[in-house]
Amino acid sequence: MTALLKTTVLISGTGSNLQALIDACRTGRLETDIIHVISNVPDVKGLARAESAGLNTSVLQHGRFSDRSDFDRALSLLVGAGDPDLIVLAGFMRIIGPELLTPFSGRMINLHPSLLPLHRGTNTYQQALNAGDTQHGASIHFVTAELDGGPVISQVAIPVLPDDDRDSLAQRLAPMEHRLIVATVEFFSRHRVECSGASVFVDGKVLTSPLRLQPDGGFGWQAPAE
Ligand code: GRF
Repeated sequence: MTALLKTTVLISGTGSNLQALIDACRTGRLETDIIHVISNVPDVKGLARAESAGLNTSVLQHGRFSDRSDFDRALSLLVGAGDPDLIVLAGFMRIIGPELLTPFSGRMINLHPSLLPLHRGTNTYQQALNAGDTQHGASIHFVTAELDGGPVISQVAIPVLPDDDRDSLAQRLAPMEHRLIVATVEFFSRHRVECSGASVFVDGKVLTSPLRLQPDGGFGWQAPAE
């Protein structure tokens, strides 16, 4: 039996994506051990979800640190104590500095609500509507020093409907994000994904475009013919 993927999840809020991971661990779809859930905001729903699943939780409030790098250093120690194989940023609303990034480079992934490279930063639903996009979606990428700019691993797309506003778009995207995060972490738990430089490798082959979530909840990915 292969060892469970030791995963730390960083959150700032509701934690619905964390819940999707917890549920997929319970059903046995994910061979993953969520060893630590860390929030930079106290009393958020995501922490309550983690606690009721019996997970190890911590709160590290960024406002209690004199500057960003002090916070990142403390967070890095807290994350590193568990020696995770994977760190998942699931609604973690902080920019990651080098103190946190460097020790975990290639092991840290972020869920971002847009079809990267479109619409980095915040308020991506409104950005998509303002741009007149016909599709919106979510991406999971390796975290690098560039905000929302690391190599993209996987994506899910939904159509933008004529009556959509930012709330309806966000509401329809949320369940697709949950499926995306589970399918992506599943690939990690099977040791199928790696990052090298600016490239993502799946099953040892360079990914020329992001994995796309299929209606069956998988990626239907096949290695390109040699
Ligand atoms: C998600 O929409 C994610 O794309 C964004 O923040 C939201 C987190 O939601 N980065 P939740 O806390 O997992 O419910």
